[in-house]
Amino acid sequence: MFYPQFRARRIRGKEVFRRMVSETTLSASDLIYPMFSAFGKGIRKEISSMPGIYQQSIEHIVAEAQEVKELGIPAVILFGIPETKDAVGSDAYAEHGIIQETIRALKKEVPGLAVITDVCMCEYTDHGHCGIIKDGDVENDATLELLAKEALSHARAGADMVAPSDMMDGRVMAIREILDENGFGNLPIMSYAVKYASGYYGPFREAAESTPAFGDRRSYQMDPANRREATREAQMDIEEGADIIMVKPGLPYLDIVRDLRNEFDLPVAVYNVSGEYSMIKAAASMGWIDEERVVMETMTGFKRAGADIILTYHAKDVARLIRKGY
Ligand code: PBG
Ligand code: ZN
Repeated sequence: MFYPQFRARRIRGKEVFRRMVSETTLSASDLIYPMFSAFGKGIRKEISSMPGIYQQSIEHIVAEAQEVKELGIPAVILFGIPETKDAVGSDAYAEHGIIQETIRALKKEVPGLAVITDVCMCEYTDHGHCGIIKDGDVENDATLELLAKEALSHARAGADMVAPSDMMDGRVMAIREILDENGFGNLPIMSYAVKYASGYYGPFREAAESTPAFGDRRSYQMDPANRREATREAQMDIEEGADIIMVKPGLPYLDIVRDLRNEFDLPVAVYNVSGEYSMIKAAASMGWIDEERVVMETMTGFKRAGADIILTYHAKDVARLIRKGY
């Protein structure tokens, strides 16, 4: 197609035609909203690096979840801030742990909203790592047992889906097996299949109070330099029984989202993480960018890259903007 027979601008001239030829759609039903549930009562504490996002006790979680549902967002993903932490993260799989209680409250008070749980140990261990420590590193196979117990306990409390984020090898299989053996054969697993060791998690660790007490997570999370390894990680999780595969973080890894979309036919999720949110909020608060426009452009970018599902702290704002006809 050559100029002047073809003019690319013809179809861009009118809003009605721009909409008609748009290749990417975004809807509130693509979104998952992350929430931080804190032990106690009457707590609603804004996370300083994440304006608009709170650590909150169950009654406030329920109230906000109601709003989430009314905005047409189908699901929340829960992170817990327990009363106490220990070396083996006991609260993670306690019958009356923070997440278990939050799930029960949400299923009772906000029926119809799907409750997804983050399955990991770092929010519950006193050392802040994603599993059990042996000789200064996370021990893979011993951690699998705890992750499986945690997932089962979330399922028993009423979770609609579990999402392991720990990056241990074999965890999807361990979780699938324990769920199947206990009558939860139909409970889906959304695996954080491709999770990079990222500086973009900084604000989340303030929110979830899960900064490692020593070292870092590079012995279990992926090296940002690696692309082929991402396909291998996703392949492993699919073979072990994952129903949805996730890439995390989002913006610096859109090539990986596209790779998974092209390589596999499972739904692909992307986690637009805390640091990505904070950067937009900070720049917008300085008046340096137009927040609404940049947020919507970012979401469109995820969808265009091939994501079916977006986990984002912007979810409520995005749903409102979609309603306004953005
Ligand atoms: C826990 C977990 C993390 C995030 C989700 N689950 C943090 C981490 O691995 O340190 C990050 C989410 C975000 O930054 O928004 N394993
Ligand atoms: Zn973790």
